[in-house]
Amino acid sequence: MADTLSITSGSERAELPITEGSVRATDLRAIPTPDGPLTSFDPGFVNTASCHSSITYIDGDAGILEYRGYPVDQLADGSTHLEVAHLLMFGELPTASELEAWENEINTHRFVHENVGQIIESFRYDAHPMAKLMSGVASMQTFYPSARRIEDPESRRRNVVRLIAKMPTLAAWSYRHSIGRHRVYPNDELNYVENFLAMLFQSQQRVYRPDPRVTRAMEVLFILHADHEQNCSTNAVRAVASAGNDLYTSAGAGVGALFGPLHGGANEAVLRMLREIGHVDNVGEFLEGVKNGRAKLMGFGHRVYKNYDPRAKVIKRSTEEVFEVTGINPLLEIAVELERIALNEEYFVKRRLYPNVDFYSGLIYEALRFPPEMFTVLFAVPRTVGWCAQWLEGVTDPEQKIMRPKQIYTGHRARTFVPMDERDA
Ligand code: ACO
Repeated sequence: MADTLSITSGSERAELPITEGSVRATDLRAIPTPDGPLTSFDPGFVNTASCHSSITYIDGDAGILEYRGYPVDQLADGSTHLEVAHLLMFGELPTASELEAWENEINTHRFVHENVGQIIESFRYDAHPMAKLMSGVASMQTFYPSARRIEDPESRRRNVVRLIAKMPTLAAWSYRHSIGRHRVYPNDELNYVENFLAMLFQSQQRVYRPDPRVTRAMEVLFILHADHEQNCSTNAVRAVASAGNDLYTSAGAGVGALFGPLHGGANEAVLRMLREIGHVDNVGEFLEGVKNGRAKLMGFGHRVYKNYDPRAKVIKRSTEEVFEVTGINPLLEIAVELERIALNEEYFVKRRLYPNVDFYSGLIYEALRFPPEMFTVLFAVPRTVGWCAQWLEGVTDPEQKIMRPKQIYTGHRARTFVPMDERDA
């Protein structure tokens, strides 16, 4: 017998079918209540599925993250970001010749229109690079108006390639403008990650040659950040896309969502927190403050993971490789001590709070001499791949409708308008 959920409201009783571990929220409408048809209430979508998806699988209790079925740690050990991008976009790891064609396709689209550069440079030099990136991404729709033809598969693919290709250029230009340096243009000799590093750090005097260990660490970080199913920014991308929007408009919303300190902005917040703590001896006092609600332990806790974030494990390993090149970041000692104590404290254990992806990534970025404002930008570049894959899945999904949640209204009703001279002072 099929599983059902029995609901009783007054004299009404209904059996709702359970399929795929869920009930259809629209089935609830058949059940009357004194306040109208039954609805579900879920601020923050804590237990609401908004789509079917075959891109990324997470089991938060078990600490599992898979892209198209492949565990993320295996991908981080054995592949490159563009290989993973191919996997996320098309569902399969590329063969050698497919990868070569894909890399060539991406590489030929790395240049960005000069006017987009000028848009980024029209900001004050001290504007946050995420704000500049958000505007740069959104503005691209005006340079590629055919991107609005989202029903055209060719147009969809062309613009996905463009965005994945151009995102590092936009990100690097946002950064260079912040530090008062000229733009560096893409270099065909370099791969995706090397070219990004060169566009960030190249000076006029010297050719920038990243240490291969640094390039590899960045590649790993890119892979780990490529997608994370229906997180806040991906949901923003899908919500904006559900109104029939092009990729650039939708991804611009994704950049905005990622900017938030509870989402992609957390790695920046972790660094600021570690600096504030200042010394390993102050860790105990800081954690007392967290337990008393005076502060949050940034980089800890996750909506989905109630176990060690699998990405944090891989990043912790990468910190060692990067520190071989850069020397140890003194803040690492504070981070390790925070983790050691927190994992044994009742407050964190009871709430199942573990380090998330942001806890150690900021330490690597700082060791590579990125200012904290750049950390979220370094997240946005690889996450673009996930946004593209999820945007594509959303706009081609016949089940999807414009996203428009309901509300439970708690305000006044049917009041009579009071003219100004009759209102109480
Ligand atoms: N420090 C201290 N307490 C915490 C933390 C934290 N980092 N995270 C959660 N808690 C506590 C909450 O206060 C709450 O306690 P209560 O039950 O006594 O009220 C309980 O744990 C549950 O937390 P919620 O906020 O309800 O969990 P939610 O799923 O809504 O939030 C979030 C998840 C936003 C990630 C949260 O854990 C947080 O703010 N963490 C710090 C910011 C951070 O690191 N964000 C990055 C997430 S990864 C990413 O987006 C890429």
